[in-house]
Amino acid sequence: MPTFSTPLSRRLGLRYPLVAAPMFIISNKEMIVACAEAGILGSMPSLNARSAEALEADLQWIRSKTDKPFAINVTIGLTQSDRLRRDVELCLQYEVPVMITSYGNPTPIVQAAHAHGVTVFHDVINLRHGQKAKSAGVDAVIGVSQGAGGHAGTLNPYVLIPYLRRELGIPIIGAGCISGGEQVAAALALGAELAYMGTRFIASTECGAQDAYKQMVVDSTHDDIVYTDQVSGTHANFLKATVPDAHQPDLTPEGAKRWLDIWSAGQGVSTITDIKPIGQIVEDIVREYHDAVKRLTG
Ligand SMILES: Cc1cc2nc3c(=O)[nH]c(=O)nc-3n(C[C@H](O)[C@H](O)[C@H](O)COP(=O)(O)O)c2cc1C
Repeated sequence: MPTFSTPLSRRLGLRYPLVAAPMFIISNKEMIVACAEAGILGSMPSLNARSAEALEADLQWIRSKTDKPFAINVTIGLTQSDRLRRDVELCLQYEVPVMITSYGNPTPIVQAAHAHGVTVFHDVINLRHGQKAKSAGVDAVIGVSQGAGGHAGTLNPYVLIPYLRRELGIPIIGAGCISGGEQVAAALALGAELAYMGTRFIASTECGAQDAYKQMVVDSTHDDIVYTDQVSGTHANFLKATVPDAHQPDLTPEGAKRWLDIWSAGQGVSTITDIKPIGQIVEDIVREYHDAVKRLTG
């Protein structure tokens, strides 16, 4: 399958300008290695390892399986400070090529990362957060648009991606509802340098989500998604069938349990029709991308 690329994907050494985005609880080291083999950037939140020691073991395992780039996500405001410090140290020690920061000010992490030659992406939902991330020195900003899985924004990607690109003048990564090659082509046409995809990879063989969760992603459409701040205090998209009634006291159990029992996914579920290995998902996306470009260029 012919490769396609952008300045950022070439800089990172990816075969395709695609990222399997980090997903709390369900992304794992197996996904990272499968993504590396498929030529895209895999990732997982550091907190998906139960402890810093477990993260170190995961990093050693990943390093033993691949020398291709991958990313670790550190959720700044959601991670206890000792653990955050240790996770960042481990990423630097194991020369993790890309760190993805979210939910907080990335400035100290960017400084440490750049001193070790590590690239940093930070996710934002609007220009104000994008300007802060740019001031922090990040290498690229992930513009998370409406309908995305996890904590999603409210802006349409037709606005968000070109607007952030024009105003910030640094590479933009497009996120939200990108589940196939047509949407990848659209995101790149809008000026994104990488397409950042979470929900599509829930329905992958390697993903750590329960089978019923994967199947619900396949069976659902955007009508089955609810955008609410009732689960975690910040607006995010969830599979409606797993969200208890807002007036029940058990809607806000502590920490991880919320994301364990209440399943997040974005509106991109509408175009996901099967569960398959990451290698095949990437092949399909690449074929769909080339078909879309061919249609455009006649
Ligand atoms: C189940 C789930 C968990 C997520 N957890 C995280 C997380 O821990 N850290 C983070 O930065 N983003 C998280 N996200 C957001 C994704 O990294 C990404 O921005 C999003 O999935 C892109 O939109 P899409 O799902 O429509 O492709 C999560 C998304 C999902 C679906």
